Amino acid sequence: MGHFLDGSDQSINLAVNMLRAGRVVALPTETVYGLAADASNRTAVARVFAVKGRPVDHPLIVHLGQGANLAQWAKHIPDQALRLAEVFWPGPLTMIFERHSSVPDEVTGGLNTVALRVPDHPVFQKLLRLFDGGVAAPSANRFGCVSPTTAVDVWSSLGAAVDLIVDGGPCEIGIESTIVAFEGDEAVILRPGGASSEAIANVLGYRPRDPTPSSVRAPGMLASHYAPVTALELCTDTELAGVALKLVANGMRVGILSLGRTVVPGAAMVWDAGCDIGVFARSLYGMMRRADADALDVLVVALPPDEGLGVAIRDRLYRAAYRPIL
Ligand code: TXA
Ligand code: MG
Repeated sequence: MGHFLDGSDQSINLAVNMLRAGRVVALPTETVYGLAADASNRTAVARVFAVKGRPVDHPLIVHLGQGANLAQWAKHIPDQALRLAEVFWPGPLTMIFERHSSVPDEVTGGLNTVALRVPDHPVFQKLLRLFDGGVAAPSANRFGCVSPTTAVDVWSSLGAAVDLIVDGGPCEIGIESTIVAFEGDEAVILRPGGASSEAIANVLGYRPRDPTPSSVRAPGMLASHYAPVTALELCTDTELAGVALKLVANGMRVGILSLGRTVVPGAAMVWDAGCDIGVFARSLYGMMRRADADALDVLVVALPPDEGLGVAIRDRLYRAAYRPIL
């Protein structure tokens, strides 16, 4: 069908009814758009995998309303998790717990853990209050592609395969949630994201570890992921103009993304984030899509500093730039 609606109460009611009927609905979150299904309905969850073209062993995040009873989904909630939830929920933090036996295998990809998050978007929050259950939702893109940060991006990625797209405006953060797991007594960041490790460290009293090879598996963390078709060339701020000029001189259609201003005569697209890292994160996936739409040959990106939101941005850029050596 492929049906767009605004974020009005009437649309939210329709989305709730569709989820209850086992349909798949795209919804706005503060990070990226999600492709939602009733987390307790195995057939509906299986449809999410089919629509995305995602391997079935890649687990989904269960989205819950504020104040939801975590014990219905997870066993053994560490005290540290409760402290993080208090500060970051609703918000861009996902936490991994031992799963309750009632969580379907289709959601967890057969793992004995479950990922939980309380999203901070008024439309999704309202829907969760009315729905009164868990909503399983991966990012609403085809597997391996860039996550959508607007309702129109969902349409371009998935088209009529989605029963309904609820338009809640552009995503405020624009980059996926931070995923935290607990190994023994220690919090580990499996995926950097919208909640910075500095902010998490402020709550925990220590800097969470990066994952080791033996850490809990996060199957979405493939080296190559979130990739546009346009080639990416990553560099530092100081290298940017030189690298871009050389590519322009070689006759390439070049796009440029950076945190601050860089002047490159002859570039086909130049965009800077006005020295605001939040603007960089919010615009990054949209600019990757734009590079593809404009058929650029190469997008030259100056890596932002390795701190705060910059950590998640760099992570996505490295994955997007990765090309396996065959
Ligand atoms: O911001 C977000 O997190 C967005 C919005 C829609 O909430 N969702 C999102 O979902 O990014 P997805 O499916 O694209 O990425 C979720 C990641 C995947 O890498 C998946 O492997 C990991 O979470 N994950 C889910 N359940 C897990 C589990 N039990 N253990 C380890 N990793 C898990
Ligand atoms: Mg995704």
